[in-house]
Amino acid sequence: MQPGIFSKASQLRLLFCSAVALCSVAHALTPAEQLAAYSTRAGVAAQPARGEQLFTTKHGKEWSCATCHTASPTVEGKHASTGKLITPLAPAFNPDRFTDTAKSDKWFRRNCNDVMGRECTVGEKADVLAWLLTFKR
Ligand code: HEC
Repeated sequence: MQPGIFSKASQLRLLFCSAVALCSVAHALTPAEQLAAYSTRAGVAAQPARGEQLFTTKHGKEWSCATCHTASPTVEGKHASTGKLITPLAPAFNPDRFTDTAKSDKWFRRNCNDVMGRECTVGEKADVLAWLLTFKR
């Protein structure tokens, strides 16, 4: 667990962000703060096992999340159609991940549509991120 995550300042920022929804536009949060914001909006605790299930299985279409990202978020993935390399999704293995809410939401929207034919709910995003945060170095 990173130091300071539960500091007063970060709690206040989180409250502010979830209440005013200002932080959805290009506001930097730590991955843990982003998870807390998703969970607050979902109104239920995130479940890593459910996130893993969503990520590693198909949902009636050709691809699963793992098709491009592999089933192991600690390693590099490869785009199923362009072949472009994709850096690991787990924040412990890629410090850039989940630090920009706008970026995370943009890719969640696009990728969930590709894999599930719809956007992911905020609860599903929380589950996936909670699972990604279980990977430690
Ligand atoms: C067709 C290939 C493909 C599939 C399938 C796919 N992704 Fe991605 N994903 C990408 C690419 C490309 C990026 C953006 C490049 C990057 O950030 O490295 C990305 C980025 C992301 C990000 C941005 C993380 C951040 O904040 O930096 C998230 C979250 C994500 N994907 C989740 C998912 C989930 C959940 C699924 C399944 C519902 C999924 N992806 C399926 C290709 C894919």
